[in-house]
Amino acid sequence: MFKLLNPILSLLPPETAHKTVMFCLKMARHIPGARAAARIFHKPDSKGLARELFGVNFPNPVGLAAGFDTNGEYYNELADYGFGFIEIGSLTPKPQMGNETPRLFRLPKDNALVSRMGTANNGVRYAIEQIKQRHPKVVIGANVTRNTSTPTSEAYKDYERSVAMLYDFVDFFVLNVSYPDSHDSTGLHDIVTISQIVDSVMNIRRYNDESLPILLKISHGLSHSQLDEIIDLSLMSGIDGIVAGNAAHDRNNLRNTSGKALEKVGEGVMSGAPLFESTLDTVRYIHQKSGGILPVIASGGIMTPEQAAQMLDAGASLIEVYTGFVYNGPDFVRKIVKHLKKRGDK
Ligand SMILES: Cc1cc2nc3c(=O)[nH]c(=O)nc-3n(C[C@H](O)[C@H](O)[C@H](O)COP(=O)(O)O)c2cc1C
Repeated sequence: MFKLLNPILSLLPPETAHKTVMFCLKMARHIPGARAAARIFHKPDSKGLARELFGVNFPNPVGLAAGFDTNGEYYNELADYGFGFIEIGSLTPKPQMGNETPRLFRLPKDNALVSRMGTANNGVRYAIEQIKQRHPKVVIGANVTRNTSTPTSEAYKDYERSVAMLYDFVDFFVLNVSYPDSHDSTGLHDIVTISQIVDSVMNIRRYNDESLPILLKISHGLSHSQLDEIIDLSLMSGIDGIVAGNAAHDRNNLRNTSGKALEKVGEGVMSGAPLFESTLDTVRYIHQKSGGILPVIASGGIMTPEQAAQMLDAGASLIEVYTGFVYNGPDFVRKIVKHLKKRGDK
């Protein structure tokens, strides 16, 4: 089916193609047998790959990265394609439109995407309504960040608000402190701001009966000394894991895309194949430097089952895909799971 549909989808602007796929997922809710068929054809048998991490039971280690099911509308349908968990978001306290369209572009010669979405999302309240109504049957992480209009000095309040509101509805949190897609050139990279955010969210956790895991999503391509700061902060503050990392600002590893094509695309951050090596280095570094204490979720450039395995071998506890799912289609998770089982992963 994907082989039939893909040539048509690739003729559409990428965001329209994404919305079309999401519309089809929505329709599948109303067509008897459609979701069962998706499960029969695409859902892998994950037996033997289940793992418990920071108190959450994951049926397999392959997750869907943030930005795909931003508003938490499609996670049950997406789980039919085998994901062991789904990260919804990034969510902000207030809804925001994001940047003007077009804001998502394909670089097919390099298996990459460029986006400048501007964290478009319907806000935390809307996402809670989706989760409440649809009784998730899948592990859900909520990725939260600040509204674009919130100044850096007040950013922690946005995280605090979102985490407090979502606390009873998700399995874990991801504090997206990477913010690569902003108009605000200060971003959120500085460690003082990050520790203020972490401290305030940890306070929210302290006042709740259940201790939900709180992870940090860091920028792609941080230097080892920047990673050292993040590792120290995480270990000292009780952060449960690191999502490494987000889409990349630099486009250095593009091999086949012409300068002219890039010029046409304009500004934005890059996801997909060119990120792989650098993500692998980051995952290995965090794992080794933290003595394996700090779980890492690898996100960036995983385009093949073999690359998924390499990330796990480098010390990742879980992996996430976005661009790989877009380019490989609905059978991607099944292929990864099959590969991991074949090599005897547990
Ligand atoms: C269109 C698009 C939107 C994204 N939106 C978000 C987002 O809202 N929050 C976030 O933390 N990451 C977001 N990401 C980054 C992905 O979650 C992922 O970290 C990144 O794409 C690298 O993984 P990949 O190479 O498998 O795509 C987005 C990526 C894309 C392509």
